[in-house]
Amino acid sequence: MGKKIQSIRGMKDTLGDDVRIWQHVESTIRNVARLHGYQEIRLPLLERTELFKRSIGDATDIVEKEMYTFSDNSGENITLRPEATASCVRAGIQHGMFHNAQVRLWYMGPMFRYERPQKGRYRQFHQFGIEAFGWSGPDIDLEIIELGKSLWDCLGIRQSSKLQINTLGTPDSRAKYREHLIAYLTRNKDALDEDSVRRLDLNPLRILDSKNPRMQDLIRSAPVLRDYLSVDSERHFNKLTEGIEALGIEFEINDRLVRGLDYYTGTVFEWVTDLLGAQNAICAGGRYDGLVNSLGGADIPGAGFALGMERLVEVMQQAQTAHLARATDVYICLIDGVPTDSGIKWARQFRKEKISVTVHCGGGKLARQMRSANREDARISIIIGESEVASNTVTIKDMRSGETTQHVAPADAVAAVQGILNDTEAPQNSKSSA
Ligand code: HAM
Repeated sequence: MGKKIQSIRGMKDTLGDDVRIWQHVESTIRNVARLHGYQEIRLPLLERTELFKRSIGDATDIVEKEMYTFSDNSGENITLRPEATASCVRAGIQHGMFHNAQVRLWYMGPMFRYERPQKGRYRQFHQFGIEAFGWSGPDIDLEIIELGKSLWDCLGIRQSSKLQINTLGTPDSRAKYREHLIAYLTRNKDALDEDSVRRLDLNPLRILDSKNPRMQDLIRSAPVLRDYLSVDSERHFNKLTEGIEALGIEFEINDRLVRGLDYYTGTVFEWVTDLLGAQNAICAGGRYDGLVNSLGGADIPGAGFALGMERLVEVMQQAQTAHLARATDVYICLIDGVPTDSGIKWARQFRKEKISVTVHCGGGKLARQMRSANREDARISIIIGESEVASNTVTIKDMRSGETTQHVAPADAVAAVQGILNDTEAPQNSKSSA
């Protein structure tokens, strides 16, 4: 026997009931995006490495150590996308989407980061993201926060996610703040860990994000960016927080929230949960007003977020709000040598009415076929034997009550099946995946 091949560390298969939770999450996401007027954009998984260096930033963890980068056969430097904001901006510029236009876009798909895998952190993970281009006011920030909130409501995890927001101000005010922060951290250099010493000149704001317990006192006493904000930034932020309050969304201002990607300006936010341990951000985003311009486009402001779908699914599993659609409604058993085409012809009628049907394959005794129906979690089994074929009828069995109705004519079969499906009390028709 050949040696078994395992999947790559940090890259997961999704199986069985988990797939059904994902399908539910994906369809809810599509619907919420549509309800908010966002259009889907589909982007490649591979981009030129330069795109991420110039957008996310050379001195960030992602670019420094987490990218899957290689040379392709023509020697081009290529990277598996670690996120999709940069790709979205690249595509918008390339296709002239930003000319005199304001656009709302969404995407969903796999991202790749060579991180140390742990609960909620994978090397291949999936994001749903939205990006809105062309609005500079706080109204669009409010809209994207509301879109996140609608999703939590639809997925039943409103209680499990809390909003934290902050503002990084304009590049000018941030530069002023940066100087003061560097001076403060240099005065306290002995208290910095190795990583922070390295970041001191490259990316000092990220030191504030450190989880090292030894540095928490130092971080708490550090100068606060909000004290350096311009009047305009302050006004933008206040308008946004007023809007969030008016919408009744609970939030907390977190002065230490700086985000790990260089392109942010102004508003930044995260939706966090206490159900996932260290990897507590389900969704994160903010404004990136200079990004389109820095990647060769016009001076177009942008704002958006991305949510980690694995984390979202894990929160739903913990909060026990994952309701699954049944895999199959009806299982058709064929006995007495009745050929498969008879089963398929009956299945066509049900499928036309959006009833899902599995037709048994492989023959065998009725008891064995019934075991398969149970394994598939079918709500109803339909039995077709010699006598049913002779009378052009079927026998319908309610798998929950055990009640069986024999010789149901084609004209009545769909209604009979629908009657049983509609009779299914909601909580049992959907299975909790705790
Ligand atoms: P990010 O904070 O790097 O932002 O990622 C967004 C979300 O993706 C995180 O909050 C987390 O839920 C999920 N995530 C990130 N890394 C992993 C991982 N290794 N395993 C599992 N989930 C992960 C961005 O990617 C920005 N592009 C967001 C954005 C869009 N900002 C503006 N527009």
